[in-house]
Amino acid sequence: MATTTWTRRHILSLADFTPEEYETVLQTAASFQKVLTGRTKKVPALQGKVVANMFFEPSTRTRSSFELAAKRLSADILNFSPGSSSLTKGETILDTAKTYLAMGADIMVIRHQQAGVPQIIAREMDRLNSGVTILNAGDGLHQHPSQGLLDLFTITSELDPTNPRLELLAGKKIAIVGDILHSRVARSNIYSLTTAGVQVHLAAPATLLPKAFLEIVDDRSKDKLHLHWELNPALEDADFVMTLRLQQERMTANYIPSLREYHQLFGITRDRLKLCHPNVKILHPGPTNRGVEITSDLMDDPNLSLVSKQVTSGVATRMALLYLIGINSD
Ligand code: NCD
Repeated sequence: MATTTWTRRHILSLADFTPEEYETVLQTAASFQKVLTGRTKKVPALQGKVVANMFFEPSTRTRSSFELAAKRLSADILNFSPGSSSLTKGETILDTAKTYLAMGADIMVIRHQQAGVPQIIAREMDRLNSGVTILNAGDGLHQHPSQGLLDLFTITSELDPTNPRLELLAGKKIAIVGDILHSRVARSNIYSLTTAGVQVHLAAPATLLPKAFLEIVDDRSKDKLHLHWELNPALEDADFVMTLRLQQERMTANYIPSLREYHQLFGITRDRLKLCHPNVKILHPGPTNRGVEITSDLMDDPNLSLVSKQVTSGVATRMALLYLIGINSD
């Protein structure tokens, strides 16, 4: 397994991920994918390690995916839910983290509705010389690195199932459509895809795609990021289309006139896909609002939709991440 070059302690963002790190994740995920489809499905790589799954915000797939990934690596897993925790008694998040540290947690997988919380816990764990490593499982509107990496693994595996790698993506066109403003998934994908040489086309109503989005990438990647306030130019000849949910729970104002109008203008339909490359494939990180950002039949079409593959790839990718940071944790 390709691990010798791995030096990153915490996985908090993809903003500063290097091409070598992406390649290592892809290769490691590919070998775990083989484990998952083999007979035993489990390896002893993290035996004796403790993974604390700390989800301060609701989650179905990310949380279960990390749990299964940890179990397949033979780690012990602690699951935390805010509603039934001492947070309801006034405990701070740092105290919660220190409680898990005292129980021997080696890796903390953290999701929080506020951007920056995983970083704050990582800083505190470093200050305490604890040896604990932090994996950001989604913080506010900021980053969702494991989703960006599993999307990268899904897309590159689609292009070459035996050897997923970055160079497969050079010059490809990928459209990211929907509520980009509120999407940490889009933010993580923009970093990974532009680094891989993809032409990334963002499409959304102007209220959900501010011009300032161009500034999230540095000057070297500016020529790979394109903004559209209408759908068709983003779809034309696209190799992959990533649709995103309207995150109404994060909306503080009326960003769109109505769901119906949004669907008419930005919903992905079979008809609209005719603009794309003939082999186009669709991705969605879930959860989906069927009939809003995408029609239900497209979601379920195995010839077009990679949505189930994303979920499957998620386990192998998260095994890779837990493994890469876990074998180096003290
Ligand atoms: C996303 C998230 O939580 O950021 N979902 C996920 O992790 N699979 C996107 C969303 O909630 O729409």
